[in-house]
Amino acid sequence: MRLILISNFSSFMKRLFTSMNTSIVRLKTASIQFEKSPRALQPSISDPETLEALKQASHVLQTTHQPVAFPTETVYGLGASALSTESVKSIYAAKNRPADNPLIVHVSSLDQLKRKILKGKEIPDIYTPLIDKFWPGPLTILLPLDSESDVSPACTVGQPTVAVRMPDHAVARSLIALSDLPLAAPSANASTRPSPTTADHVYHDLQGRIPLILDGGACSVGVESTVVDGLSDPPMLLRPGGVSLEQIREFGGEKWKNVLVGRANAQTDEVVRTPGMKYKHYSPTGKVVLFGPVSDKSVEEAVREYLESEDLKDKKIGLLTSLTMAKDTFPELHTLSMGATPALVSRNLFAGLRDMDIAGVEVILVEGIREEDEGLAVMNRLRKAASEEIAV
Ligand code: TXA
Ligand code: MG
Repeated sequence: MRLILISNFSSFMKRLFTSMNTSIVRLKTASIQFEKSPRALQPSISDPETLEALKQASHVLQTTHQPVAFPTETVYGLGASALSTESVKSIYAAKNRPADNPLIVHVSSLDQLKRKILKGKEIPDIYTPLIDKFWPGPLTILLPLDSESDVSPACTVGQPTVAVRMPDHAVARSLIALSDLPLAAPSANASTRPSPTTADHVYHDLQGRIPLILDGGACSVGVESTVVDGLSDPPMLLRPGGVSLEQIREFGGEKWKNVLVGRANAQTDEVVRTPGMKYKHYSPTGKVVLFGPVSDKSVEEAVREYLESEDLKDKKIGLLTSLTMAKDTFPELHTLSMGATPALVSRNLFAGLRDMDIAGVEVILVEGIREEDEGLAVMNRLRKAASEEIAV
């Protein structure tokens, strides 16, 4: 009894000294013009308050080791200088992230990538068509890590490569360009939670743990970037995301036509190419039951069977619908629609899981979609969130 009291007291004291005020600053994203070319260097910003907020956030990143949360087109990121080990460690601490899961480094221009990360070396040719087509945008590439690189080892944690992406969100790209710091940035959720797609989601998970959240509204893509490895032969897709497999095959040139898709799940003791694959991920508090992609049986039928066969008495049950189910099919369930196109399902997926938690739903039934185009990334996230999958 005494021990428990002491341990509670010490965690209370720790919280007392580590918690801080978290400010949310709303930005006018439309006032920022950043040319959509990976060669563009700086934005032009017409709203003085937006410019001021970005300068202040840059100042925090340049003069402290605290991370700042900011919107990207995929999900909100929690960023700090990729060149400072202390700064990178503060990201892991704020999120409670396992220390062996490497971080993506975000850059604002090809010029910055060459100056700060590649130290003048060239980007391997295999990436040229992908960069021309998808940067800035939701595509992360693996680059060889030079022994003289200034990127903190806390960022790459033993990998022979560094993962890099150029985000296509005016706020993210401007913050990186104004601070002239490549930013290590994982998704800005508490580890294991669904990724955040609004500033409120970030605040919910990280309030008191970070000083500043830049609010640029809801993210348009809604799932994280696609991670590809062009250094292996054949090249590999390590994590499906905002750029689809079909797009990579179509626009990547000859070599990417043979791209291999990495396995979605790996055992904890296995060495995996993308270490993030082995962790519990995207989990709301409620138990997720995924109804697999539609084939001969309707999802409605499968959900009805599930409700009849399981003992769900006294449980609050929710339903996240997607392409085929009408919102009022099961009036007794707390139903939310993710949208009627794969792109909308991708955009609203994480917010949908979080909204179910807010409503106190204990079992979340989810209507899956086919694993093509946006569907590959959506189903990858849902499989990791789900404790049960029912093939339909
Ligand atoms: O869209 C995104 O990518 C978002 C936004 C904020 O940019 N970021 C994001 O970061 O999703 P995070 O940390 O949640 O996921 C990074 C993924 C993990 O699966 C990690 O294992 C993998 O990228 N990764 C990072 N560096 C790697 C490397 N050198 N080799 C292989 N995988 C790597
Ligand atoms: Mg993440």
